[in-house]
Amino acid sequence: MKTRHGISAVMLTAAALAGVGMFASSVLGLPQGGGQVQVPTSAADFFLPGTQPNKDSLSFEPIQASNNCSYCHGEYNATVAPFDSWVVSMMGQAARDPVWHAALSIANQDANLAGEFCIRCHAPGAWLGGRSTTGDLSQFGAEDFDGINCHFCHRVVNPTAGALSAVGYPNNVDLTPDPEILAALTAEGLLPDAALGNASFVVDPHDVRRGPFDDIGINFHGGPELVFSPYHANGAMCSTCHDVSTPTLSKQPNGSYALNALGAAHPTMVKGDMFPEQRTYSEWLNSTFATTGVSFPDGRFGGNHPTGVMKSCQDCHMPDQQGGGCIFYDGDPKNERPDVPQHSFAGANNWVLRAVKTQMGDDADYFGLTPDRVDAAIARNIQMLRDASDMELAQVGGQLTVKIINQSGHKLPTGYAEGRRAWINVKFLDAAGTVIAERGAYNYVTATLTESDTKVYVARQVIDEVVAKATHLPVGQGMHLALSNVVALDNRIPPRGFTNAAFAAVNAPPIGYSYADGQYWDTTNYAIPSGANTAVASFYYQISSREYMEFLRDTSLNGTGLVAYNLWLLHGRSAPVDMDSMSIQLTAANPADFNGDGSVNGKDLTIMLGNWGGTGQGDANGDGTVNGSDLSIVLANWGT
Ligand code: HEC
Ligand code: HEC
Ligand code: HEC
Ligand code: HEC
Ligand code: HEC
Repeated sequence: MKTRHGISAVMLTAAALAGVGMFASSVLGLPQGGGQVQVPTSAADFFLPGTQPNKDSLSFEPIQASNNCSYCHGEYNATVAPFDSWVVSMMGQAARDPVWHAALSIANQDANLAGEFCIRCHAPGAWLGGRSTTGDLSQFGAEDFDGINCHFCHRVVNPTAGALSAVGYPNNVDLTPDPEILAALTAEGLLPDAALGNASFVVDPHDVRRGPFDDIGINFHGGPELVFSPYHANGAMCSTCHDVSTPTLSKQPNGSYALNALGAAHPTMVKGDMFPEQRTYSEWLNSTFATTGVSFPDGRFGGNHPTGVMKSCQDCHMPDQQGGGCIFYDGDPKNERPDVPQHSFAGANNWVLRAVKTQMGDDADYFGLTPDRVDAAIARNIQMLRDASDMELAQVGGQLTVKIINQSGHKLPTGYAEGRRAWINVKFLDAAGTVIAERGAYNYVTATLTESDTKVYVARQVIDEVVAKATHLPVGQGMHLALSNVVALDNRIPPRGFTNAAFAAVNAPPIGYSYADGQYWDTTNYAIPSGANTAVASFYYQISSREYMEFLRDTSLNGTGLVAYNLWLLHGRSAPVDMDSMSIQLTAANPADFNGDGSVNGKDLTIMLGNWGGTGQGDANGDGTVNGSDLSIVLANWGT
């Protein structure tokens, strides 16, 4: 069996690689390089309710490492055993993620002790054990690199005990110690509003494990009690961490966000009053998935799911498998289940896991990151991306129309904004199959995307003049997670059931772009260049752009940015994933007949003027901009 000794020795190596030890002395409290001024926040500014850190192991039993679970819940069936898929998930590796290490160091540079907040979510066991008070990883024990692990998630308590019975689950939560735990928090004024998110979780102070099944035959856990928790089968369980709001910023009457008075917690503790860094849970909650659910007859999501109607986060991200919930039950017809939730948490990340494995070197296998599992996890993430969208192509007159349909349970893309982007690439080919024009070209050698002539889906968060003045950074500077206070652009495609009002109410409206109520797709038009015989359109997703990785490399002062950047180079520069690809045969058409009604007239002129200076319909010569040369083409073809 695995020894603690092995773990500590290995983690020292990983920490040294990440340059972790250098942090505290060289950075904290000092004005930053390039004249940047650090926001003088303290731990009080990052206070949030919920279970608080406690170093007393009698009143709070420590979160145990996953190797206390893996010998029964792992190593028996690669697709079913919870450990085998969890260990290669981004949540399992959240505390070893080199991109996170770099961003964490920058957050600490930007706002003193901001790392307290980051660690709370990315390494909750460390935070609960009181090992995040320096804001960095210097106090982490070996088990803290276990990230978001088994014992943590299975001790999480529903902050609104009982309320979930309303969505059709049997309500026997009375059997659990939950009411007592919640009453104790209420007495201390620490009970979080269930809608707050921000890792304001409630965790059982004792080793009482909660799970979705109410029919566990024998409790093999020895001492620890097992209790039934419908909460674990509900998206609300994921809400604690998948709505992220910067707690040092408050919404002002004019809608902007400004720094709170320093030295105190957020004045209202209401999510909507804090800056919206991520809103995945709220996006889902305001979609059709959270109400009636959505049927996928093609079975793309949910594994062995009996109906194929996808509702909760778990339905899509923890697909049902036929097998045993533990090693003793697998292969035993009497004890197998048709719906063991796979702990794959497949998402979009197709390279960071490989970087984590590289950093671990020879110890990767020991920690469970075996080559087979890593390959399987990357393949699952790529498949998830391919299932996330569908594409439709059409020719309308002289235009190619590319429609992208969002099939995911939230915006596409969703979640973390920095560096993530999705875009459309179009290649026009002549009769001989030679590419004669390309839009949204990506150079794989330099990792450079040509953005100006295509649609790129992103959320761009930046700083305004007030934060710029306080920090001496330029107005409009992006990527400083702890400082960003303006959403400059969010054109990501909404999910089914989208309404502008509901999304605005959770601080997640489209910004700088518009979607009609109910719209969960987007269309982009490209002028067909003359001589084009075929068009091939692809929809790409990239986790970490070159611009973001260069920012980490150049901004982090403790070396973690350079480590992340070098790993990025080593692992294919975050290769774009081809989510959809289709081709269409083109017919000769008048390039100025934008609406395809057979004649070039006032309607086409209106379309062109509507896009003047931009891209898309009206770009008769296909050079990427609607301008005077296109107007000449329209006039030359007028009435034809
Ligand atoms: C309330 C929970 C929460 C808090 C607090 C939080 N994060 Fe995250 N973070 C997430 C989630 C969830 C994701 C993944 C979303 C996704 O994949 O789109 C994420 C993703 C990231 C990533 C992307 C990692 C990668 O491999 O691409 C970075 C970097 C990151 N966070 C840095 C930070 C920093 C720095 C802080 C503190 C300022 C922080 N986070 C605070 C929840 C949180
Ligand atoms: C000695 C073997 C063993 C160990 C070690 C073990 N478990 Fe289990 N566990 C089981 C068995 C057997 C089941 C029942 C599986 C089933 O019925 O599908 C189970 C079920 C569970 C459930 C499901 C409860 C429910 O109501 O749905 C959870 C949660 C759980 N274990 C968590 C853990 C965690 C966390 C650890 C490590 C800290 C752990 N287990 C370690 C054997 C073990
Ligand atoms: C209908 C299925 C479905 C449901 C329901 C669903 N998701 Fe997803 N999710 C996907 C797909 C497909 C992707 C990959 C596309 C993407 O990255 O946006 C994804 C991606 C993600 C990512 C990675 C985002 C990124 O681009 O970095 C996170 C985080 C996530 N989901 C969390 C959640 C949470 C939390 C919930 C519930 C509140 C949820 N999902 C509900 C299908 C679903
Ligand atoms: C991010 C939170 C999270 C983490 C981390 C996590 N689980 Fe789970 N686990 C869940 C949820 C949620 C469910 C219920 C899913 C559902 O009902 O669809 C579940 C279900 C289970 C079950 C019930 C399956 C059965 O047949 O009894 C077991 C056992 C289990 N988890 C063990 C583990 C072990 C072991 C680990 C670590 C290797 C782990 N979990 C890590 C959230 C988590
Ligand atoms: C304790 C906080 C926490 C909880 C609870 C939590 N997550 Fe996460 N989740 C994170 C963080 C942090 C990351 C990002 C890790 C990284 O990339 O380094 C993440 C990443 C993800 C990803 C993205 C993986 C990728 O490839 O980009 C998915 C999908 C996901 N979580 C789903 C879920 C689901 C489903 C639940 C509920 C069953 C859940 N999470 C509960 C914190 C949490």
